Formats: sequence, structure tokens, C-alpha cells
Amino acid sequence: MKFFLDTANLDELRKAAAMGLVDGVTTNPSLVAKEKRDFHSLVREICEIVHGPVSAEVVATDYEGMLREGRILAKIHENVVVKIPMIAEGLRAIRTLESERIRVNCTLCFSANQCLLAAKAGASFVSPFIGRLDDAGHDGMDVIAQAMQINRNYDFQTQIIVASVRHPLHVVQAATIGAPIVTIPYKVFEALHQHPLTELGLARFLSDWEKAKPSK
Ligand code: G3P
Repeated sequence: MKFFLDTANLDELRKAAAMGLVDGVTTNPSLVAKEKRDFHSLVREICEIVHGPVSAEVVATDYEGMLREGRILAKIHENVVVKIPMIAEGLRAIRTLESERIRVNCTLCFSANQCLLAAKAGASFVSPFIGRLDDAGHDGMDVIAQAMQINRNYDFQTQIIVASVRHPLHVVQAATIGAPIVTIPYKVFEALHQHPLTELGLARFLSDWEKAKPSK
């Protein structure tokens, strides 16, 4: 399973990358806006920290605009993946950009049919947003399972990124059904290795060790 980090914050990326477990990064306009930085130079720096796919999203919603922005983003670094929203014009843009060997991550997907369309359009990645589905009273993970089955049925090569992850249980659920990639906010990433019994056990081991040490 690949771990992507869902953030545009360089400190978070550096800390997570130092653990050696980060395979890629996803950003979106909301995450980038929080950083109050020039978008393109931020993407360049992210690519220097994490050596894997880095998704950067277009903000145009018309075909020509998405192509224009996508081509510029792709020139920043060879690892840039252009994020295109799941809209009709976006599906056209996905096919064109992928035909130019620019990898696309089709974003804002909330149904298995949308994932199917992204795969048919030839997207390298598709991002179903499970947390936002859960918030709306659906089971987001159902969409992941359906999209994975569709990919198997038709041998689609589009990689599914479990996105809009809110808590560690989402990661467990994604891993249990064999999802290939999960993109994780830093807070959730940090929580993955923590357990109160680990802390307690370590404290006990260290204090027992101290007590057994011969006195000087
Ligand atoms: O990057 C897209 C996605 O992960 C957004 O998550 O928490 O804003 O629904 P969230």
C-alpha cells in the first residue's frame, strides 16, 4: 500500500518524509491557499522533499483553461500529476493531457460511476473522497470497493487514491480491502504509529531498566 500525504505544508512534509514512509503527495486549492505562498514554487519545493507523484490542481473549469494550467503545472517537475475535477470538460481534458504523457489525478469523485468514467478517460489516478461521503451519510469505503472491482473487471490501470481521509480507521479499512493508495492528512499520519499501550509499555520498560541498574 502506498502512503501519500494530503497536505501542502512543507514542515509537515519534511517531518513525514523523514520517517521514510511517504510515497507521494496530494494537494488541492484549499490546502495550497492555507500556505499563502506562490503556487508554482510551492509545488517545486514539495517535489524536492518527496520523490513520488505530487498532485497539483487546476482551478480553470473549461477545457482549454484546464489544458493551459495543466501543461504549465506539468513543466514544474517530472513528478507533478495534474489534478482535474470530475466534470464533463474535465473528462475531455484528462484524455488530452494523458495523450501528451501528462499524468492526471481525477478529483472530486463521489461515486463508482465517476471512477469508471475517469478510468475510461485514461486518468492515471482517481480520487474518491470518502470522508465527505461519510459526512453525507453514505459509506465512502463502498465506493472504493466498487471502483476496485470495476478496475479488476476491465483491467483498468487507473490507480485509486483513497482521499478525504479523516481518521486512522479509514486507513485500516482501505488497507483491509487492498486499496492501492491512501492519501493521509498529517494529523492522521502521525496518529497511525501512536498507541497508549505502546507509550505505557515503553515507560515501564525504561523505569524497570533504571531500577535494575547497579548503584554507583
Ligand atoms: O485532497 C482532497 C481530499 O483529501 C480532501 O479532504 O478532508 O477536505 O474532505 P477533505
